[in-house]
Amino acid sequence: MAEDLKIISADKETQYQSIIPQINALVDGESDLIANLANVSAALKEQFNFFWVGFYLVKDNELVLGPFQGPVACTRISLGKGVCGAAWQQKGALIVPDVDAFPGHIACSSASKSEIVISIIRQGEVVAVLDVDSDELDQFDLVDEKYLTEITALLRF
Ligand code: SME
Repeated sequence: MAEDLKIISADKETQYQSIIPQINALVDGESDLIANLANVSAALKEQFNFFWVGFYLVKDNELVLGPFQGPVACTRISLGKGVCGAAWQQKGALIVPDVDAFPGHIACSSASKSEIVISIIRQGEVVAVLDVDSDELDQFDLVDEKYLTEITALLRF
């Protein structure tokens, strides 16, 4: 396993194309889910310097905070609540350019301005979500959705 990531300055797509094989090398051969979620969060934080990046895991019909990088966050989210709960309910991805305009957004931090949430689905059920927050408006698009979804596909739940 590589101990240091190669971090590049480039357009967003190129950054994803650089970090994805490195993430694959980090998680490949490691069977512990929490270890892998922790390293994926750290790798995304290092490459993109996202304000907040991490996972919520479905446990007893709630989303419970998992490994993340960034400021402390809400620990539990119900189905349909906030951006994370809405993505879970829809079994899909949600891109929110302005979190203040999203009804029911859960403001773990008032500094968060835009957000993307990717549902992670195994055998037809959402098992977790990947949540990424920016402290700037309108930072996420279909490029992020595509590559973040690819990253979640590398994880064995
Ligand atoms: N804003 C999220 C809550 C999680 S934090 O952003 C880390 C939401 O509305 O679901």
